[in-house]
Amino acid sequence: MTSPSLAGQTAVITGAGSGVGRASALRFAAAGARVVCADVREDWAKETARLVGAAGGTGVVTRCDVAVEADVADTVAAAVENFGRLDIMFNNVGITGFKPGASFEDFTADDFARLTDVNFRGVFNGCKFAVKQFKQQGRDGDRGGVIVNTGSVAGIVGFGSVVYGATKGAVNQITRGIAIECAPFGIRCNAICPGAMPLTNFTPVSPGAEFSPPAQQYLDEVAALQPLGRYLTAEDCAEAALFLASDASKNITGILLPVDGGYTAR
Ligand SMILES: NC(=O)c1ccc[n+]([C@@H]2O[C@H](COP(=O)([O-])OP(=O)(O)OC[C@H]3O[C@@H](n4cnc5c(N)ncnc54)[C@H](O)[C@@H]3O)[C@@H](O)[C@H]2O)c1
Repeated sequence: MTSPSLAGQTAVITGAGSGVGRASALRFAAAGARVVCADVREDWAKETARLVGAAGGTGVVTRCDVAVEADVADTVAAAVENFGRLDIMFNNVGITGFKPGASFEDFTADDFARLTDVNFRGVFNGCKFAVKQFKQQGRDGDRGGVIVNTGSVAGIVGFGSVVYGATKGAVNQITRGIAIECAPFGIRCNAICPGAMPLTNFTPVSPGAEFSPPAQQYLDEVAALQPLGRYLTAEDCAEAALFLASDASKNITGILLPVDGGYTAR
């Protein structure tokens, strides 16, 4: 089977400064896409764009807080200004609600607001401005534009991080709803639902913390959570996102694709 191609297409990737976003920017560019690397950490996004360029691809950067509507609108506009159109919107940003030792009822109103603003409103904003642009462009044959969202296994099963899981359940459900409403326009909308990725820079409620590599014992414990016995990587998710972004999945919409080593199959 040949690798999916995104030749000549333009993709916006949010959260492109780290983890799944950076791996996807590199993978999408290797598949031929021009990528807009959007992140609240502009310095991280710039490093991703530099890596894309060093690998022979084309990437530009926007400083974008996905919770802020105007930032997301500007990011979609940057795709059009730089590359003439938008073909793929990958709404990948998410922050974790992990608070050591905290129960669900310990979450403050501010914690709740931040998690829902970034994880749910951020995806809504991305879908909204992508669909406006897709409809304005019109469809090209079967292709009316593609949205890929990053949900989570925590949006499918009870996972132990209650508020975070609820925001991801919302991401999963907005994905299905948009898939149905936008199907007549040839717009597809799917989600990847990652399992545990201990090697990304999964940011706490306040973004910006630097990554420090976990101990081997922790990695082994995380790996053992999956029936396949491996923890997930950003590259695993990038491959799944590439499939959903490309014409290889042209007759697939409204699915939640677990990238989870079998975690949710139990
Ligand atoms: N790491 C995991 O174990 C795991 C598991 C399941 C799902 N996910 C999901 O995968 C996605 C990617 O996570 P990751 O592990 O690559 O995390 P990561 O922290 O490595 O990358 C997230 C990126 O998003 C950026 N970001 C944070 N808040 C932002 C905002 N408001 N606006 C714009 N950019 C913002 C960060 O600066 C960072 O570059 C998220 O949606 C996350 O919820 C992660």
